[in-house]
Amino acid sequence: MSKYLNNRTGISSEFLNIRERAGDSLLEALNPGVSFKTKDTQSALLEFICPIGVDLNRVSLEEERWSVRILVTGGAGYIGSHTVKELLREGHEAVVFDNLSTGHREAILCEEFFAGDLRAPDSIRACLERYRPEAVVHFAGSCYVGESMREPAAYYWNNVVGTLRLLDALRAAGVNHMVFSSSCAIYASQVDGPLQEDFPRGPGSVYGRSKFFIEEILEDYQRAYGIHSVRLRYFNAAGADPEGELGEDHRPETHLIPLVLRAGLGQGVVEVFGTDYPTPDGTCVRDYVHVRDLARAHVMALERLVAGGLEGGINLGSGREHSVRQVIEAAGQVIRREIPAR
Ligand SMILES: NC(=O)c1ccc[n+]([C@@H]2O[C@H](COP(=O)([O-])OP(=O)(O)OC[C@H]3O[C@@H](n4cnc5c(N)ncnc54)[C@H](O)[C@@H]3O)[C@@H](O)[C@H]2O)c1
Repeated sequence: MSKYLNNRTGISSEFLNIRERAGDSLLEALNPGVSFKTKDTQSALLEFICPIGVDLNRVSLEEERWSVRILVTGGAGYIGSHTVKELLREGHEAVVFDNLSTGHREAILCEEFFAGDLRAPDSIRACLERYRPEAVVHFAGSCYVGESMREPAAYYWNNVVGTLRLLDALRAAGVNHMVFSSSCAIYASQVDGPLQEDFPRGPGSVYGRSKFFIEEILEDYQRAYGIHSVRLRYFNAAGADPEGELGEDHRPETHLIPLVLRAGLGQGVVEVFGTDYPTPDGTCVRDYVHVRDLARAHVMALERLVAGGLEGGINLGSGREHSVRQVIEAAGQVIRREIPAR
């Protein structure tokens, strides 16, 4: 686990200051591959770790709602699929563009799916011609920090070149609004305390640099070509769809909560990477944000972007940190079993 993210939480003035606990509408299906049957079990764990907290009623646009046709790149993936669900719930139309390299066909909840690869200009052009979306939410990319250090070319091609090809196709098609999946990995590691949007950048990995470069490109495309964007910098996405339709299914899974729950089911042992961090229990702390909060934030950002009321970079975190040990202990208490860890 990267020391870089140690002791980090994200503060977003735009979204997090309006957080409110939303009763028990929490995680109900952490991971479809991991079948915890009781709703209470799943809710209790995520209630502890990252309650859903965005109060949409207080942050929705005042005006009458309108419907936008949105292209969702990477909509078959973890965060993308949850966002498609929220877009549909809010009355928007969604078209998923995905090469299914890490995503899943069965996670696409909208009717329209275009199987294509961002690095292939013809494919994205054909999709834009067929569906004529008014805005894009861009999730597609590669997102493993360790892999990015071993295979920088693959990461720069998929993330940076893929985004450039998308942007040029959008320019040609006259699509001027994009919400982009950025990451807290763009910030410098030397800064102490909760990260804020104006903190120094200094990504410590190829993955983080690819997101950083894309953010710079987006600023230039906004200035020169009028493609307006909101760059959402997520902390650690966690949880699953409260209705149980969607969940986290990365292969390989590197995220802590699914791994902890699998270990609780007898599938492996949780590896704790580092016990000498300057944290209360020595293990790495992270800011976990519920995937539905993230999905809702995308819808809000998109609506405000299209309405001309928002652009730039925004952190999306819960503002609370939890250590690896705390997550393991919380899971153990909830499922009333010891979680094997080493
Ligand atoms: N999961 C997190 O905690 C987290 C944190 C910060 C940022 N992010 C960013 O959010 C985005 C989504 O993350 P996720 O966890 O849902 O990942 P994911 O792997 O589940 O989803 C990525 C999707 O993009 C698709 N894809 C990848 N390359 C493509 C290409 N060239 N053309 C078309 N489709 C392609 C994949 O098939 C997959 O469906 C990523 O850009 C990631 O960097 C994620």
